[in-house]
Amino acid sequence: MYDAPIGFFDSGVGGLSVWREVTQLLPYENTVYYADTAFCPYGTKTPAEIVTRADYMVDFLLSKRSKLIVVACNTATAAAIDHLRSVYAVPFVAMEPAVKPAALHSKSNVVGVLATRGTFKGRLYHETLSRFASHVTIIEQPGDGLVEAVEAGNTDSPEIYRLLETYLRPMLDAGADHIVLGCTHYPFLIPAIKTITGNRVCLIDPAPAVAQRVKELLAQHGLLNHSTRKAQFDFFSSGDRTQVEKFAEKYIF
Ligand code: DGL
Repeated sequence: MYDAPIGFFDSGVGGLSVWREVTQLLPYENTVYYADTAFCPYGTKTPAEIVTRADYMVDFLLSKRSKLIVVACNTATAAAIDHLRSVYAVPFVAMEPAVKPAALHSKSNVVGVLATRGTFKGRLYHETLSRFASHVTIIEQPGDGLVEAVEAGNTDSPEIYRLLETYLRPMLDAGADHIVLGCTHYPFLIPAIKTITGNRVCLIDPAPAVAQRVKELLAQHGLLNHSTRKAQFDFFSSGDRTQVEKFAEKYIF
């Protein structure tokens, strides 16, 4: 079982920002990634629709012998993680907007959170806010349109700069010193985001912490792959698989 792959799923290519961190930390682990491109974006779907898709993808990843599954999508985590953990025995690692480190390290006590509308409705997000961020002003901004732009490889156009400016300016004007990237698609926009925020704010991407959690959980279950054979990376999609591979070639490899 130790050489079985780690499974990943997302509504599309966004989860590759998490996949990248995991494969950097654990370079000998085999992986299988499923992009639900035909059903992207999730941000506007109902929780019931997302649960149905999550079940489908977990069944698919289990059919590929996944030993652990990374829900590489904040929106799917918000809608489906309680359900998945209650139904499947495989260990899951899930995403959650990294409000806790942002709130702990903020000096201005103003934190911006950019996420999908679905993520802002999640139980975990609200629990984290009340446990760790009650002393902080949180500025929530739904990132409408950003997922679609990243899927299209549109990370550097005048429209995307305009959209980001609209979303980020109110956070900067309110004095935010940390901005949480609460969607796995958004790390691909970091160069564009930085042209707006400069060095004034710290951008928080939870992917490195998620990769650490994957390593810990594999170790706990005795599932780490100790082989030093070149890892196998498989990519699947409910839409056009070549789109995922092209994206990975441009932004990851
Ligand atoms: N990458 C997904 C997330 O982290 C995008 C959700 C969507 O498809 O709207 O939330």
